[in-house]
Amino acid sequence: LASKIIIPVPKIENRKFTKPLLCGPGPCDVWPSVAEALNKPILSPMCDEYFNLMADIRDSLKYLFQTKSKLVLAISGSGHSAMEATITNLIGPNETMLIATRGIWDERALNIAQRHNIKAIPFRIPFNTTFSYEHIEAELKKWKPTALFVTHGDSSTGTVQKLDGLGELCHKYGALLIVDTVVSIGGVPFLMDEWGVDAVYTSTQKVLSGPAGISPVAFSERAEEKMNNRKHQPPFYLDIKLLAQQWNCYGNTRAYHHTLCSPMLWALLQCLQEINKRTLPKFWKTHADVVGHFHKRLRQYGFNFLVPKAEDRLATVTTVVLPQGYDYLKFVKYMRENYNILIFGGLGPTAGKALRIGIMGVNATIEVADAVADGMAGTLKALTKSYNILIFG
Ligand code: GLV
Repeated sequence: LASKIIIPVPKIENRKFTKPLLCGPGPCDVWPSVAEALNKPILSPMCDEYFNLMADIRDSLKYLFQTKSKLVLAISGSGHSAMEATITNLIGPNETMLIATRGIWDERALNIAQRHNIKAIPFRIPFNTTFSYEHIEAELKKWKPTALFVTHGDSSTGTVQKLDGLGELCHKYGALLIVDTVVSIGGVPFLMDEWGVDAVYTSTQKVLSGPAGISPVAFSERAEEKMNNRKHQPPFYLDIKLLAQQWNCYGNTRAYHHTLCSPMLWALLQCLQEINKRTLPKFWKTHADVVGHFHKRLRQYGFNFLVPKAEDRLATVTTVVLPQGYDYLKFVKYMRENYNILIFGGLGPTAGKALRIGIMGVNATIEVADAVADGMAGTLKALTKSYNILIFG
């Protein structure tokens, strides 16, 4: 059959790669202990070690989300898989999902809902602000939705939405509260049970400082009851009722659903252990202190923030506006080439309008904040020179 080979062996170049400091809105750098955990053995999906590992992950996720709920597990996939799982398990075709929309993730939720024939109703505010409860209440009253979707920390805009008491408000109108915490969990206070959140998901590549590819979710009893009474079928791969059996959420099932990636399970447990050993309150404070210092340095260098109100600014991702005429992508490129620091330009509503800088998880240190602030100041100076040459000759 050798003569039948029509595609030759490809020539794979051994490309040189210098890893930059990952200070975009994610992925973030990984903890050294997580890099090590990724080398741990592959486990069979039915052995004791595998179920013990999942039990340890579930205990740590309950701590991370601050919930006593039993329905806590992790989805095989990046944050989008958890978004799709959460929406499609809770809301059926022709049911209504209200979306508090200020950034790209809310638009993604809209897109997912529409693909599943959910009646999705976005209501919007300027992208550099957050919602008032009066506004949300008026929309809940008007639409009486099955659920309200809210993004806690929005990496596309650098805003953080207040959530305390929002569950109670949703429940008053018979709605479930779904929250995206992909870029906030661990870096910003989040209390699932206390705030009445019914469904929450996150991912590993932000504050948890692991690789993307496994995404924790948790559901309240109210959400569980909704799922138990649903008439529709969510996608098989994302069916929380089946996954709950695989994850042994009720302590009496060890079912096979799909083959999970064991290195990702080891890595997730190690990410969670890094937070467990620091404790949530201390890690929230670390992020608040580091971002406070970073913002002080940015102000000293004359940078302006995209988000006008300090209380709306997300601790994990900062959005900065450059003076008129500066090119955001050139700025990002210069930072990478001259400082080996990777920051991002805008995304979704902020594309071409902002820089996005993520200082979180393993990188939430004063040293990293100083390196990024100094690099940004140097970059601005260098681009100002070329800008002046362009304008004034
Ligand atoms: C990804 O999460 C991004 O904000 O770019």
